[in-house]
Amino acid sequence: MPSTDSRPRYAAPRRWLHWLIFGLVLLAYLFINIFDLFPKGSLTRANILAAHFTAGIAVLLLVFPRFWLRTRHARPAITPPLAPLTEWMGKITHVALYLFLLVQPVLGILTVQTGGQPVKLFGVTLLPPLLGAPDRALSHQLENIHSWVGTIFYWVIGLHILAALWHHYMRKDDTLQRML
Ligand code: HEM
Ligand code: HEM
Repeated sequence: MPSTDSRPRYAAPRRWLHWLIFGLVLLAYLFINIFDLFPKGSLTRANILAAHFTAGIAVLLLVFPRFWLRTRHARPAITPPLAPLTEWMGKITHVALYLFLLVQPVLGILTVQTGGQPVKLFGVTLLPPLLGAPDRALSHQLENIHSWVGTIFYWVIGLHILAALWHHYMRKDDTLQRML
């Protein structure tokens, strides 16, 4: 029987990837926030940091199919239509979120690589050191930028979530429904 659900929605693969990547970003943040609870040099701490790397690398790998899907499936219109300023604010936030999904994992990988460390998960090397001799000063600078970007995007992601809730509960349009 054909589906009777004809409300405009993002195409299924765009919805799945949106939520999958959201889950992975959440995990990346969760792991990096708990790893400091474990003593330096402990195996648990090393594994949690490695899990942070893995979640972040998965985000990077998934953002490319996500870009590609944007060219295949259009963004469904919002009902009722948005004022131009609201539309524009959404666009800016989405561009910022995309840049974050691309740049933040790359900064993390470069931090580890310039430190001369392999990227490992449970002792298995996901990425060997590829950049030659370690440059600790550069690695430290990259880590600082990675940490700053991570902090700034707590706010941007928070704003994005608040906007979704505002659309749903205050403006009562179908913005959020289109992504579910
Ligand atoms: C969506 C992806 C990612 C997010 C949101 C993210 C977020 C963060 C945040 C917020 C911190 C700073 C924690 C603090 O200053 O207390 C951090 C630290 C770090 N991240 Fe990421 N990260 C991501 C991906 C990656 C990837 C892919 C790698 C490497 C493969 C990586 C490697 C690191 C390293 C080495 C640190 C420093 C850990 C330490 O303090 O020793 N990150 N990350
Ligand atoms: C790590 C967290 C998140 C990131 C990086 C993120 C990223 C994005 C991006 C890039 C878009 C643009 C559309 C696309 O190409 O898929 C988008 C759309 C959307 N997101 Fe998120 N998102 C996150 C979390 C959330 C959460 C938790 C919610 C709900 C509470 C949400 C609700 C929406 C909605 C409703 C849209 C459609 C907006 C529109 O079409 O104008 N997102 N998101």
